[in-house]
Amino acid sequence: MRLMRLANVNTVSIGIFSWAELEPSEGFYTFDWLDRVFEKLAANGRRIILATPSGGKPNWLAARYPEVRRVNEQGMREPQRGRHNHCITSPIYRKKITEINTLLAQRYGAHPALLLWHIGNEFTGYCYCDLCMAAFRLWLRNKYGTLEKLNHAWWATFWSHRFTSWDQVNCIDPNIHGMILDWRRFMTSQVIDFIAVECEPLRRHAPHIPATTNFIGLIDFDEAYDYSKIAQSMDIASWDSYPFWHNRSPSEGGDASVACDTAFVHDLTRAMKPDRSWLLMETTPSAQNWTPVSRLRRPGMLRLNGLQAVAHGSDSVLYFQWRKSRGGCEKFHGAVVDHAGHEHTRVFQDVTALGAELGKLSSVAGSLIRPRAAVIYDWENRWAIDAALGPRNVNKDYLPTCRAHYREFWRRGVAVDVISSIANLEPYRIVVAPMLYMLRPGVAENIARFVNAGGTFVATYMTGIADENDLCFLGGFPGPLKEVLGIWVEETDVLNDFDRQTVVAGENALELGLSGHYAAQHYVDLLHLRGSEALAYYSDEFVAGRPAVTRNRYGGGIAYYVASRNDAHFLSDFLGGVIREAGIKSAAGLPAFHPLPHGLSMQVRTDGKTDTLFVMNFSDVERQAPIGKGFLNVNGETVPEVVKISGYTTCIFFRTGDTV
Ligand code: GAL
Repeated sequence: MRLMRLANVNTVSIGIFSWAELEPSEGFYTFDWLDRVFEKLAANGRRIILATPSGGKPNWLAARYPEVRRVNEQGMREPQRGRHNHCITSPIYRKKITEINTLLAQRYGAHPALLLWHIGNEFTGYCYCDLCMAAFRLWLRNKYGTLEKLNHAWWATFWSHRFTSWDQVNCIDPNIHGMILDWRRFMTSQVIDFIAVECEPLRRHAPHIPATTNFIGLIDFDEAYDYSKIAQSMDIASWDSYPFWHNRSPSEGGDASVACDTAFVHDLTRAMKPDRSWLLMETTPSAQNWTPVSRLRRPGMLRLNGLQAVAHGSDSVLYFQWRKSRGGCEKFHGAVVDHAGHEHTRVFQDVTALGAELGKLSSVAGSLIRPRAAVIYDWENRWAIDAALGPRNVNKDYLPTCRAHYREFWRRGVAVDVISSIANLEPYRIVVAPMLYMLRPGVAENIARFVNAGGTFVATYMTGIADENDLCFLGGFPGPLKEVLGIWVEETDVLNDFDRQTVVAGENALELGLSGHYAAQHYVDLLHLRGSEALAYYSDEFVAGRPAVTRNRYGGGIAYYVASRNDAHFLSDFLGGVIREAGIKSAAGLPAFHPLPHGLSMQVRTDGKTDTLFVMNFSDVERQAPIGKGFLNVNGETVPEVVKISGYTTCIFFRTGDTV
């Protein structure tokens, strides 16, 4: 408690993997230790985020009820080990977690120190047991009603896979793409259902306490859920951010590129609940232990990392972990209190300083970010692209492509939401939808409405190929987006990794900012203009002279189609031009055509009266940031229009109506 006070820690998450401590044997509960923790924290003025313990199961539970252990895709039940691996369908697991959550809610729900429920931990992974399969069949029956509809959606006549009884649906066949999509959707909905079971006693006994579950971000793994959907069942969105600082070489963009990828997930998390702040639930105060090479954070990086989350809309900087474990696989993971056990460490001092600073920034809490630009990143679309065989089976790179488009906004200091394809587009002036292969019902209509009303829409190769069941659109690609884009894509050529195509800007593209030659790789569409104009052309091989970039004026807006995967130089010129044309400004309110100096990023949060501008330098050398007129520093002094920001530093400025 003394160390927490010193470190300016005002909020503590507890109980995350404590099931075996709370219920050491079935039905025998030991809350006394947790009572003491509550009392001590409350007596010291700390607020508590109390976790439900479902993220890790006790040995007695796994041994007595094997059904709570997951079954893998090969049909083998997993041994008891690790964590995050309970069967989310198991009625026993649901019953047991309901029992313990009820007791937690009854005991602590009215405690004045309790701030928030933390449901489980980092929900991930699939279970293929009989219980899950039976629930999947039921889910399918509710969705389709008849086998005929299911067979059609799954295109099951192909290879004689027609289902004549629901019981035959008992395996996951990578050749049936509609099935893969439905299985992943089912798993997402099963998690939502499981979370509802967890929340029921909490909401019954403590209706005033909100709940969140901490997402794991976009780490590449196969068995993912659609977090944007799960977030809708929670009161607050939160995630655990573990950037690989100091792990990328200069040619890979160094820490600036780590910062940009991190910002992408911050903005994805924020956009899940755009009308309120989100929470950074975990980040390490020092090094992770599980990265291939876990480098120490350079001076300044702890503050920069924490304030970056705040700049993107988080109302917290919470660390994993408070005290370093002595044993187990996380004993070398960064912690506020190291094995040394005292406050005389670099990390502790950095945490203390940031805590003090956050205390002074409390007026920023609750303020929002209202981007005029959005990039679509869509889990279901990713699943469909991953499942597709062809036209390219390597380097499909959906996520990197979304990130590359996002980056052009980020490095200009332009705020962006990262949204799913079914999100409301009304708040935006620009919507960029890289590789939107799958168009779910209503998405094309929504995009057309958006453009018609004056919006700017950017689409790329691999767009509008299939519907929500991964059935190809008939009548030409990009399916229901043909009209708004004013094109028909007849064929797509895919290049070897060593092949390049050349894209040459037309004269009419100069105004937008495109000029000269650009290199294209991987995907090259062969398209026909159907009302749109070409802004650039290919110049190599048999496609020479065909359109490579098109612009269509549709209603009051503009829809662009970029037909090939072009180099970074193109993306910068093109999206810079689109940003300028749409009149979108940087966070500081300045024109945003040119990127900021390398490593600089800017975000602004506003409560309607005061704008708080965060200018962050993710490079290790001083940079100059253009912020324009009217900003004051924390001491109320006017700052110059171009400010110097040292390496690995964040500067915070304020602007109110009066200072402009
Ligand atoms: C998170 C997890 C924590 C801890 C941390 C280590 O994924 O929620 O419990 O394991 O990683 O980086």
